[in-house]
Amino acid sequence: MNQKIQFTLNGKSTTMEAPTHRLLLDLLRDEIGLTGTKEGCGTGDCGACTVLMNGKPVNSCLVLSGELEGASIVTIEGLKIGPELDAVQNAFVRDGGAQCGYCTPGMLMMSKALLDENSNPTEDDIRFALSGNLCRCTGYAKIIQAVQDAAAMIRSKNVQ
Ligand code: FES
Ligand code: FES
Repeated sequence: MNQKIQFTLNGKSTTMEAPTHRLLLDLLRDEIGLTGTKEGCGTGDCGACTVLMNGKPVNSCLVLSGELEGASIVTIEGLKIGPELDAVQNAFVRDGGAQCGYCTPGMLMMSKALLDENSNPTEDDIRFALSGNLCRCTGYAKIIQAVQDAAAMIRSKNVQ
């Protein structure tokens, strides 16, 4: 049965109808056309589908439409502010933190969540935060470097 859902998506109030058991990942990609969020495993194991829900990272393949009422969702498409890339996006580009790019939206959203809470993470903090996000290409070193560089960028902006 379809249910009317109202939520905020990338800063915009959104109203739609969907079955309560429809997955957020499928809503985003198939109904709304935001295909930046990727499906890897579909079972909560790879992190490719990570989005922010009320500021916290979630696997969108595990969130049901019925849970969305009143929530604020931010996807990779909402990370950029106007023409400006987010610090973490800039750092991934500069440091080569992406190769095929399939895991990258999830990595970026998880990194954003970490840096929103802690702009001075240790390498262990970063590795722990990203431990649920799998990458088959990069070997992780450049991803970790990119998050460290994004953190430094954020801290330098905060002291200006
Ligand atoms: S697709 Fe959601 S965790 Fe893998
Ligand atoms: S860059 Fe290819 S899976 Fe991570």
